[in-house]
Amino acid sequence: MTILVTGGAGFIGSNFILDWLDSSSEPVVNLDKLTYAGNLANLAGCAGSNRYAFVRGGIEDDARVGEILRRNGVRAVVNFAAESHVDRSIHGPSAFIETNVVGTMHLLEAVRGYWSKLPNAGREAFRLLHVSTDEVYGSLQPGAAPFTEEHPFRPNSPYAASKAASDHLVRAYHETYGLPVLTTNCSNNYGPYHFPEKLIPLIIHNALSGKALPVYGDGQQVRDWIYVKDHCAALRCVLEAGRPGETYNVGGRSEMANIDVVLTVCSLLDSRRARTDGRSYDSQLAHVADRPGHDRRYAIDASKIERELGWGPAVSFAAGIAKTVDWYLDNPDWVANVTSGAYRSWIEKQYA
Ligand code: NAD
Ligand code: DAU
Repeated sequence: MTILVTGGAGFIGSNFILDWLDSSSEPVVNLDKLTYAGNLANLAGCAGSNRYAFVRGGIEDDARVGEILRRNGVRAVVNFAAESHVDRSIHGPSAFIETNVVGTMHLLEAVRGYWSKLPNAGREAFRLLHVSTDEVYGSLQPGAAPFTEEHPFRPNSPYAASKAASDHLVRAYHETYGLPVLTTNCSNNYGPYHFPEKLIPLIIHNALSGKALPVYGDGQQVRDWIYVKDHCAALRCVLEAGRPGETYNVGGRSEMANIDVVLTVCSLLDSRRARTDGRSYDSQLAHVADRPGHDRRYAIDASKIERELGWGPAVSFAAGIAKTVDWYLDNPDWVANVTSGAYRSWIEKQYA
């Protein structure tokens, strides 16, 4: 049996594939369109494996997806493929609707066509795991109870709205066609192979490059941070034992204000690669214009997955952020590779 991962050349998908090949004997096919966010260098560690195959293509190509499913006898699909950056969705929502909404619908159609023709046992065992986000729930007031799976959807950015639409489609395919789907809604990931348009890798990259560290607004927005390997472990648990039709919230039990995240990164860099002038990297900090529609706080109640599937985060924020800073310091070639070309024009547009 084989699993199909879509969007496996991105940040979380590549970490998932690397962990999967380490912890399971099952082969993986990775279907990825290789947008600006997809990077095959993330998967250099799979190069020698005869259990890994890469196909370049989009989830919207349902004929191609159907062929991959049939040819490989796929028993599960894990869907990471998406446009994932909130700020990009504010500059241009259409790619988000194309991939996250229309693309997910085509993927669901291809999977439904394949699944409906499987023998009974194969149909029973089959799973589609849709990887989604806590941003579908919208913003929490300080002190409000964290998001449970029953929290109403109230997405505030085009990205979050497109993910919410995809979650609804996935749910509808279960209700209407009986497709055995699972959905996870996870908080902010960080760790290796994180593209430096997102807060943590951007701060590390800018700090080391002597550039300003842009903090939107007052920097008091709160996110729940989870080390990416903990998210990958949660996904393996849900795929293995999650109940079809259910959604599971995944979080790191690490609520932090953005400004504190930035200061933590600065202090780790100070201790590992001090600036030559003896000043702290926090002297590069710059408060810049706020993100329109910026969600003030996300927080996750992950008690359902903890109770039902026995999963919990294993890496504290202190340990995970230190590992992450070390990874970026040890992998300047990866950073140089992904920050050339299209990356530069994005940064100029966003921070002009
Ligand atoms: P990412 O932007 O790093 O990677 C996305 C990947 O999808 C890239 O490899 C890209 O090439 C590929 N892709 C884009 N459009 C495609 C298409 N049409 N067909 C096939 N492949 C396509 O994203 P990420 O941060 O790894 O997030 C992965 C998933 O997890 C997304 O669905 C995102 O919404 C969700 N998520 C992310 C976080 C986070 O903190 N990063 C948290 C919760 C959920
Ligand atoms: O919560 C899960 C979501 O986390 C995922 O669904 C998204 O795919 C992922 O990108 C992430 O979304 P955020 O918008 O929370 O992540 P980002 O790293 O872009 O920003 C984190 C916080 O930092 C947010 O409050 C905005 C702020 N920020 C971000 C950037 C890029 C800054 O202050 N300055 C910056 O330059």
